[in-house]
Amino acid sequence: MSKIRAALVGCAKVGHTHGAALRTLDEAEFVAVCDTQGERAEAFAARYGTHAFTNVPRMLRECRPEAVLIATPHPIHAGAAILAAAAGAHVLVEKPLAASLADCDLMIDAARQAGVRLGVISQRRLYEPVRRMKAAVDAGKIGRPALGVFVMYSWRDPAYYASDPWRGKWETEGGGVLVNQSPHQLDLLQWFMGPIEEITGCWTNINHPSVEVDDTAVAVLRFKNGGLGSIVTSVAQRPGIWTKVHIHGSNGASVGVETDHGASFVAGVSNVADPALNDVWTIPGEEHLLREFEAEDRARFGQIDATTHYHRLQIEDFLRAIREGRPPLVTGEEGRIVVEMFTAIYRSQRERGPIALPIR
Ligand SMILES: NC(=O)c1ccc[n+]([C@@H]2O[C@H](COP(=O)([O-])OP(=O)(O)OC[C@H]3O[C@@H](n4cnc5c(N)ncnc54)[C@H](O)[C@@H]3O)[C@@H](O)[C@H]2O)c1
Repeated sequence: MSKIRAALVGCAKVGHTHGAALRTLDEAEFVAVCDTQGERAEAFAARYGTHAFTNVPRMLRECRPEAVLIATPHPIHAGAAILAAAAGAHVLVEKPLAASLADCDLMIDAARQAGVRLGVISQRRLYEPVRRMKAAVDAGKIGRPALGVFVMYSWRDPAYYASDPWRGKWETEGGGVLVNQSPHQLDLLQWFMGPIEEITGCWTNINHPSVEVDDTAVAVLRFKNGGLGSIVTSVAQRPGIWTKVHIHGSNGASVGVETDHGASFVAGVSNVADPALNDVWTIPGEEHLLREFEAEDRARFGQIDATTHYHRLQIEDFLRAIREGRPPLVTGEEGRIVVEMFTAIYRSQRERGPIALPIR
């Protein structure tokens, strides 16, 4: 079967995770990379055995990729995604889909008009403990998902924000902990609980005076199924403690995951140091499974590189989705829901009240 001609835009931290996947996946022929920093693009291309560009239109014209992966800072996702879709390429974008809903809509429209697939990375959906939870919720084992809780007590130091000029600023990052560190678990919360009716939230900056944006946010959610939810997310806890998503059901049973132990990893800087584990499992008759799950997950963790493995799985899914003519694991429309969630929390703080979803 012929390979899919794939290109990457953004050749730095998480870009290496994409590069490593594209170089080794059977489905891909890694035809080009693009970064506005020419030396970075050249070094990256040499390392992964592909061609370097510093300008997206030229890369699209000369290499005609069928799939373009985008790993630039979030407010810059839309520009490259729209150009790639218009050139007929399927587009897989790093999280969050964009920093604004206006950008999300332009990207989704561009993909629809061109008849190409738009996907967004949310690799924690592929963590085995998360998949177990999704299967249990979908099988009705907790009744109706009635209460969804996302808690992150993580840490980012001043050096992290200083590491790239775009970090920690409204204009070039679009937000803080909500936009950068939380999209994975915001996505899981809406994936487990279903459509959201309204969100009330607020944010603050507890101990990062060098940055403008939120390092902490809280929110209360009401879901369309009648369920409730809560979010407490922070990168102001030193050391980072954990990140968890718990889903409590109408029959009284609960399932939960600790997606990250300690501070969540920084792609290209630190590695995933501990496996994700189910930390709550009270489905009647299945309580004993918690220990078995943990043994399985710890054994697997010893055999894979968890920092890159789940990205690779999602990129593989995207390439297979193109070939099979089906939607990817996480679509652009689902990526937009995460952007709606953080947009609603920022707007709720400004307007001092609940924000109804969807936000058009
Ligand atoms: N899924 C995950 O776990 C995960 C982890 C880390 C980062 N990310 C996401 O990946 C994206 C990139 O993060 P990062 O930490 O790798 O950032 P980074 O700053 O390390 O890399 C971004 C690269 O994009 C390049 N770039 C900027 N504008 C460009 C343009 N117009 N055309 C081509 N290249 C351009 C920059 O020169 C830089 O090399 C962000 O959206 C971030 O949220 C996701």
